[in-house]
Amino acid sequence: MPAPPLDATLLPRPTKARTRSGQFTFTADTRVRVGEGAEDAARLLRTLLAPATGLPLHPADDGAVVLALDPDLTGLGTEGYGLTVGPHSVLLRAARLTGLLRGVQTIRQLLPVQALARAPGRGVRWTLPCAEITDVPRHPWRGAMLDVARHFQPVEYLRRYVDLLALHKINVFHLHLTDDQGWRMPVTAYPKLTEIGGHRTRSMTGPTGDVYDGTAHGGAYTRAELAGLVEYASALGVTVVPEIEMPGHVRAALAAYPRLGNAPDRALEVWTRWGVCDTVLGVHDEVLDFCRTVLEEVMELFPSPYLHVGGDECPLTEWERSPLARARIAAEGLHGPADLHRWFLARIGDFLVRNGRRPVGWAETGTELPDGFTVMAWRDPAHALAAARRGHDVINAHHRATYLDHPQSADPREPPGQPGAVVALRDVHGHDPVPAGATSDVAARVLGTQAQLWTEFAATPERLEYLTYPRLCALADRGWSGPTEWGDFRSRLDLHTARLDALEVRRHP
Ligand code: ACM
Repeated sequence: MPAPPLDATLLPRPTKARTRSGQFTFTADTRVRVGEGAEDAARLLRTLLAPATGLPLHPADDGAVVLALDPDLTGLGTEGYGLTVGPHSVLLRAARLTGLLRGVQTIRQLLPVQALARAPGRGVRWTLPCAEITDVPRHPWRGAMLDVARHFQPVEYLRRYVDLLALHKINVFHLHLTDDQGWRMPVTAYPKLTEIGGHRTRSMTGPTGDVYDGTAHGGAYTRAELAGLVEYASALGVTVVPEIEMPGHVRAALAAYPRLGNAPDRALEVWTRWGVCDTVLGVHDEVLDFCRTVLEEVMELFPSPYLHVGGDECPLTEWERSPLARARIAAEGLHGPADLHRWFLARIGDFLVRNGRRPVGWAETGTELPDGFTVMAWRDPAHALAAARRGHDVINAHHRATYLDHPQSADPREPPGQPGAVVALRDVHGHDPVPAGATSDVAARVLGTQAQLWTEFAATPERLEYLTYPRLCALADRGWSGPTEWGDFRSRLDLHTARLDALEVRRHP
C-alpha cells in the first residue's frame, strides 16, 4: 500500500509538501553538517531523538544531514523552514534558528512513531520519506496558557508541558503565575507574596456554593526554576510569557500585604473560593511602586518581549468607597472608578514600554485597555475586532473555542469542569483567529490565537493532559496552517494520536 501523502500525516499541516519516491535512513554512522548558527538545532535534533533511537548524530563537515541558516531566505520569516529529504541526504534550511527548530519537530513527526517513545525502539529502521517541504506559519502567536495559580504544578511538569507544545509548533507558553487563590513567583523585595500568598487552607469543591475540600494547597517556584524553565523552553523555540495579574485577581497578594489594598488594617486570607473576588489593589503610590518592583523582578527572569498584566474582572466596588481612590480620581481629572482601571494599567504599561517590553492585557470590551497594550480578547470575537480597529495588536482567545477548562463533550462521564458551554474539538478547529468583518489592515493586527487552561477544577497532570489533548492539536493546526477541512484534520489527527500515545499523553479518547 502506498504511504499517505506527507501533508496528510503532519500536524500542523505544512504549507507545501511533495512526496518523492524513496527513503532516507538514519544509522549510527549518519553525521550532521551543522552550519554556522545552527548548533542549537543540531543539539535539539540529537536530544529529541536520542532516547528512542540512540542515534549519536555526530557533527561532521561532510554529514549527510545538513542544518543551515540562510538569512536570504526571507520568505520563510522567523519560523518558516524548508526541508528536502533525498535517499542520501537531508537538507533543513531556514532564515532564523527558530525555523530550524520547527523543522526538527517535522523531522521527528516524519520518522516512525517509535521515535517519540521514551524507551529505545529496538529493530526499528529510522527512515524519513523522501520529500520537499516548505512550511511557514499563518499566525505569529500560537499560544497555550496554563494557570498554575489555582493549582500549582512542579516545574518538571511544566517542562513536559512545553515539550508537547513544541511538538505542535506552539510558540508561546503563557504562564498564569498569580491569582486570588495563589501567588507562585518569588519576589525578593516582597517575600511574603509566596510565603503567605502561596498557600491556601482549602478549596471550594464545585463552581458555586459553600462546600470546601478541607485540604491545604500551596507551592511556589524558585527563581532558579523559572530561569531554568525559560532556558529550557527557549531551546525548543517556545517563549514563556509570564502573567502577573493586576489590579484585580490579587487576593493572594493582599493576604500577604494588606496595605496594598483599599483597607490597610483588614486581615485577609488567600481566597479559597472560585469566581470573581471584589478585593482589588488600591491606587495609592505605594501600590504602583509595588507593581513596578514586582515587574522589575519579572523582567530579570523572563526575557520575553511581551509581559501579561491581567487587567480582567476588576470589580469597582472598593474604589467607589475608598477615599484614597476618590482622591486619585480628582487629582488625575478622571471621570470615575471605571476610569481608574485604564489609568492604573496605563501607568504600568508605560513602565513596561520604557523598559523595552510590550504589555498584554485581557480585554473586557476590547476598547478599554490603554494604547500600546496587546489585547487578549476572550469574551467575544467582537472585542477582538473592536480592539484591532482601535489599533491594538490582538490575540483571539475566544472562550467558546479556546477555553480548555470547559468540558469537551456533553457526556456526563466527563470530569467536572467549568460550567457553561462545551468546547468540542470541532469548535477549536473551527475557530478563525481573524474575526468576521475584519478588513485586511485590521486582520493584520491579529497576531494569532491561544488556548487557555484555567485550573480551578484540574489539579493533576493527568487531568491537565486530558483537557489539553487533542484539543490543542486543533488550535495548533488552525494557528499554523490556517483553515483546514475538518475531515482532513480528523484523519491527520488519527495518525497523530499514535504520536501522542508514544509520548504517553493522557489524552481525551
Ligand atoms: C478570564 O477568563 N478571566 C480572562
